[in-house]
Amino acid sequence: MSEQPIRWGILGTGFISGEFAKGLKLVERAQLWGVSSRQAKNARVFAEIFQVPRAYDSYEQLVQDPDIDVVYIGTPNHTHKDLCILCLEAGKHVLCEKPFTINAQEAREVINLARRQKLFCMEAMWMRFMPLIQQVKAMIEQGAIGDVRMLTADFGYPLVSNSNHASTPEFGGGVLLDRGVYGLSLAYYLLGEPSEILSQASICASGVDEQSSILLSYPQGKLAVLCQSLRTRTSNQAVIMGTTGKILIEELFIMPEKISLSKFSPSTQAFPSPLIPLNAKQKLVAAAKQNSLIRSLYRSVLGLLKSDKVIVKPFAGNGYNYEATEVMNCLQNSQLESQVMPLDETLKIMEAIDRIRSQWSE
Ligand SMILES: NC(=O)c1ccc[n+]([C@@H]2O[C@H](COP(=O)([O-])OP(=O)(O)OC[C@H]3O[C@@H](n4cnc5c(N)ncnc54)[C@H](OP(=O)(O)O)[C@@H]3O)[C@@H](O)[C@H]2O)c1
Repeated sequence: MSEQPIRWGILGTGFISGEFAKGLKLVERAQLWGVSSRQAKNARVFAEIFQVPRAYDSYEQLVQDPDIDVVYIGTPNHTHKDLCILCLEAGKHVLCEKPFTINAQEAREVINLARRQKLFCMEAMWMRFMPLIQQVKAMIEQGAIGDVRMLTADFGYPLVSNSNHASTPEFGGGVLLDRGVYGLSLAYYLLGEPSEILSQASICASGVDEQSSILLSYPQGKLAVLCQSLRTRTSNQAVIMGTTGKILIEELFIMPEKISLSKFSPSTQAFPSPLIPLNAKQKLVAAAKQNSLIRSLYRSVLGLLKSDKVIVKPFAGNGYNYEATEVMNCLQNSQLESQVMPLDETLKIMEAIDRIRSQWSE
């Protein structure tokens, strides 16, 4: 498949399929060749809007099109497993929306089939391919904040409507699959696989989890704390803290355009504590800080001297182009898996999701 264009097909004509189609326009050598819907009219309208040559009124027809190389699945969570299987059995490579499936058993089935068929398959965890997420990963690997000790991330906006799939159990709803999967994916990407997982959730009237907190613990005492909500507006930031500094990924951490790196100095490293005996100079500073005027002056000077490095990097297009580029690169290099979002890690995250849910019913 080296220098040939790669032809994409899309299953489903909802919100995210439209976004993906826009993203694909920015990807060199990608051609959106076909779209399919359960209703002929939707496929036709989508094809007109996004100038797609072929429109199919069933998913089954699209996967039989011999001119399509890879299929993007943009349908509700509970359909992912069956549609991945439909594509893989028809010999198509697959990019499937997050969450990959609704549980680990489904993920295992799909992954085994992809490997048996020797076809590319990847969870569309677009966050991982964002330029600033890649940069954060590189900074951590280069030791920019020393040893990573903690990560916090939260993702919460109130749902605008209760008819959203995220609030519907039959669609594989719930905040864990809708939003929690991002925090988990970030923690697994930056800190690796945890040794222990603890979680609590509030379940809403429809029966899905509407808010939850997850605590991941790692060897040597590293921790990650994740919060997600369908009801509450949270900071939507992520912070990675190390022994010599921290990185703040500003809202919205899954699609960042701004991060900041703060290096700890000896004066900001330790919490000021009356239990630690002060030397003469520290005593003078502490006494001066009792005066509110001096304190505010001191804070302003500290603010000016702050050595935060702010990195602003707008992403191209709507950001979905990066995950598509990854798929294209893998196909062009005959790689059946992405090293940025490997299938084994998708499976581990689905296993974590199962474990988290099982704790809520204990
Ligand atoms: N990566 C991201 O940023 C992001 C953002 C939002 C959503 N998502 C994920 O994308 C997937 C779809 O979400 P969405 O917001 O695009 O949903 P949506 O707007 O409701 O669209 C889903 C589409 O799936 C198709 N579909 C197939 N079986 C269906 C069924 N049983 N019920 C309803 N629709 C069905 C429909 O297309 P046809 O009628 O044409 O067949 C529908 O338009 C979810 O897995 C979600 O987690 C990802």
